[in-house]
Amino acid sequence: MSNPVSYDVIVIGAGPGGYVCAIRAAQLGLKTACVEKRGTLGGTCLNVGCIPSKAMLHASERYEEAGHHLAALGVKVGPVALDLKAMMKHKDSVVESNTKGIEFLFKKNKIDWLKGEGVVTSPGTVKVGSEEYATKHIVIATGSDVVSLPGIIIDEKRIVSSTGALDLAEVPKKMAVIGGGVIGLELGAVWRRLGAEVTVIEFLDRILPGMDGELSREMKKILTKQGVQFKLETKVTGAKTTAKGVDLTLEAAKGGNAETLSADIVLVAVGRKPYVAGLGLDKVGVALDERGRIKTDARFQTSVPGIYAIGDVIAGPMLAHKAEDEGVILAEMLAGQSGHIDYNLIPGVVYTWPEVASVGKTEEQLKAEGVDYKVGKFPFMANGRARAMNATEGFVKILADAKYDRVLGVHIIGPEAGTLIGEATLAMEFGASSEDIARTCHAHPTLEEVLKEAALAVDGRPLHI
Ligand code: NAI
Repeated sequence: MSNPVSYDVIVIGAGPGGYVCAIRAAQLGLKTACVEKRGTLGGTCLNVGCIPSKAMLHASERYEEAGHHLAALGVKVGPVALDLKAMMKHKDSVVESNTKGIEFLFKKNKIDWLKGEGVVTSPGTVKVGSEEYATKHIVIATGSDVVSLPGIIIDEKRIVSSTGALDLAEVPKKMAVIGGGVIGLELGAVWRRLGAEVTVIEFLDRILPGMDGELSREMKKILTKQGVQFKLETKVTGAKTTAKGVDLTLEAAKGGNAETLSADIVLVAVGRKPYVAGLGLDKVGVALDERGRIKTDARFQTSVPGIYAIGDVIAGPMLAHKAEDEGVILAEMLAGQSGHIDYNLIPGVVYTWPEVASVGKTEEQLKAEGVDYKVGKFPFMANGRARAMNATEGFVKILADAKYDRVLGVHIIGPEAGTLIGEATLAMEFGASSEDIARTCHAHPTLEEVLKEAALAVDGRPLHI
């Protein structure tokens, strides 16, 4: 049935890409609706991804700290006990307040939430349930979904995705994590801290593929010291659910003798795929690329004029902040303004302890591109604030152009790395040289001084080492 209400923009999907696009479009005076089938707004990130995982990472870090690290600072606590139910309640209330917050922002900006599943019926119409709405522009921001492996069925009980791993009723004795990427390490770290014996199985010869190799080697060393076990260059060829748990069959990545690994819980974290099912894209002729992502041009337009796509459903890193920035720029372009996003300057953060954070090019990329570069490195061990915090693992590494000194990449493993990367990203956004960072006054004593010292080290003149 055709609904008499018509819009300038209908956004399908209320994750960080979609809801931010809707807010910006409404701010710019466009009549905007956002279609969302989940009972709450915020998409994967707010409901079952970034936000609940950060709540669990934070809470489990405090648990670990109370049990193992406070005594060294002279803080004596009695026996530390885990109240998993209370921890989950904290996580759920964080999710609730965040998702409700988006609902408030929709009301404030007069964005209509069209509840249900959106189907694109033509370039100018979107159907939600039995209602069909007319709109000038359609924005697809449906995000991504979990990928599994052949023969492994995610039941969210014994074999879980990140969603199930954020909602376990008890701490598993043994947890097997398939995939040494971001989700595998973050959630593996949570359950290791809460008492599980965690084994990460990774197909490649390294964890965190795509990040600077030196960071991933250091991360593996640190996590191993924390008790996480790794099986690299290993593939999972089968999973059998038993009364007690799951028996995984493992083989060397190149093939070879099979072995069995038994676990109470198996977390599958081998990546995500664009979520386009049920949108009716094939009927309206929206083209996908070879990896099932919606093809877009530099203005986020798909192969069909009037239909746009942003976030995990198109090419680029599957990160909330990338989707948000695309949402803002697209809304501004739809309102007749212009926008720009530098895909080289999207920071990536792994929220383990210590954190890992990167922006710009890795050494591997610079080598492959034949770029002549200089390296400046400085360890947290030589920083007063890090010592005061008893958090001295890791380093900052700055890569700068050998001739012009422009910063090309910054890679951090250490305390607050995810916060520190902000300074590096801003510096790079403004085209800074390492000399610019080195000459900027940094407050003392802060962790940021490690960035300054790494910048000085690019020119071979760090002060405190
Ligand atoms: P990922 O792409 O980060 O890591 C997947 C890992 O699984 C890779 O190391 C890959 O080599 C490995 N793998 C693939 N097939 C395998 C197999 N058959 N056997 C063993 N290992 C295999 O994907 P992940 O961790 O599932 O995360 C999904 C997406 O969500 C990513 O794009 C990630 O960036 C994003 N995310 C970002 C977070 C953050 O920014 N902190 C947090 C969580 C997720």
